Amino acid sequence: MSRRSDLMIDLSVEIAGLKLRNPLILASGILGLSASQLMRAYNAGAGGVITKSFTKEPREGYKTPIITGYKCGFLNAVGLANPGIKSLGKIINPLVNKGIPVIVSIAGSNVPEFVELASKACELGVKVVELNLSCPHVKNKGLELGTDPELVKLIVSSIKEEVNCSVLVKLGLTDKLLDVAKSSERAGADAIVLINTIRGMIIDVWSMKPVLSNKFGGLSGPAIHPIAVRTIYETYENVNIPIIGSGGVDDWISAVELILAGATAVEIGSAIAYKGLDVFKEITSGIEKYLVRKGFKSVKDIIGLAHK
Ligand SMILES: Cc1cc2nc3c(=O)[nH]c(=O)nc-3n(C[C@H](O)[C@H](O)[C@H](O)COP(=O)(O)O)c2cc1C
Repeated sequence: MSRRSDLMIDLSVEIAGLKLRNPLILASGILGLSASQLMRAYNAGAGGVITKSFTKEPREGYKTPIITGYKCGFLNAVGLANPGIKSLGKIINPLVNKGIPVIVSIAGSNVPEFVELASKACELGVKVVELNLSCPHVKNKGLELGTDPELVKLIVSSIKEEVNCSVLVKLGLTDKLLDVAKSSERAGADAIVLINTIRGMIIDVWSMKPVLSNKFGGLSGPAIHPIAVRTIYETYENVNIPIIGSGGVDDWISAVELILAGATAVEIGSAIAYKGLDVFKEITSGIEKYLVRKGFKSVKDIIGLAHK
């Protein structure tokens, strides 16, 4: 394979008005609480980065253990630990000033709180917010709100009316997923993100107790990948706005699968724990070689091709 043909491949994508040099985005909750960590992920090859979910007030999160390994993934219940929206500026200013595509994840408990969080992020020059409507282990936040199509519609439309920014709606695994995705689109969402971690539990047979202090946690990594593929595939057939994929991407094949199912871009989280930040370059180079072999010039040309 010639170096020349590699160079002709276009990996750039545009989503919610954000131009990304490649379709790989650092997922929320992974290295997302400091400017230097976010910058490291970008310098390692991510096309864009997402912060940890920010809440109105600081949150300490749950007592340890908050994360444990599983055969092919992780179970975590961090409890949305973050320093609160007032601390967002010092984390994202250095990235915004350098023009690095940074998305701020926000987690409110009601409509006014989501509007306030979005407007604070946008006052700092952020162009895109990701609404965490899918965290499966915190009461009154995340998935509890993201299962109600009417409430999600109100959250999204209120932000779109009052704040000048693009809105990504991050949804989790629920029976109402398609209804919530459709109502997000009707409310003016710029893209849907699928999926967050999936609620699960691991029991230590020696202590005979759940391993995590919170008992339940969110399952991530390769264990949830086929579920991410399926939900993206189904949602692609039901909405017209772009989709960002998330769930178990740890090599170029799993990334391409999500793109073929209908994702315009792909988030990477758990894989960083066992492959390090080199995973971004490994995957972009794999996608590039794949596109050359299949005779495509741009990654945009393969979005949703599994539906043909
Ligand atoms: C330790 C940990 C913390 C996370 N924190 C957040 C968070 O604050 N907000 C959010 O929307 N998703 C959070 N997630 C979910 C990830 O962003 C991602 O959607 C999920 O882990 C699936 O992708 P993966 O299999 O590549 O990890 C977290 C995941 C992990 C493992």
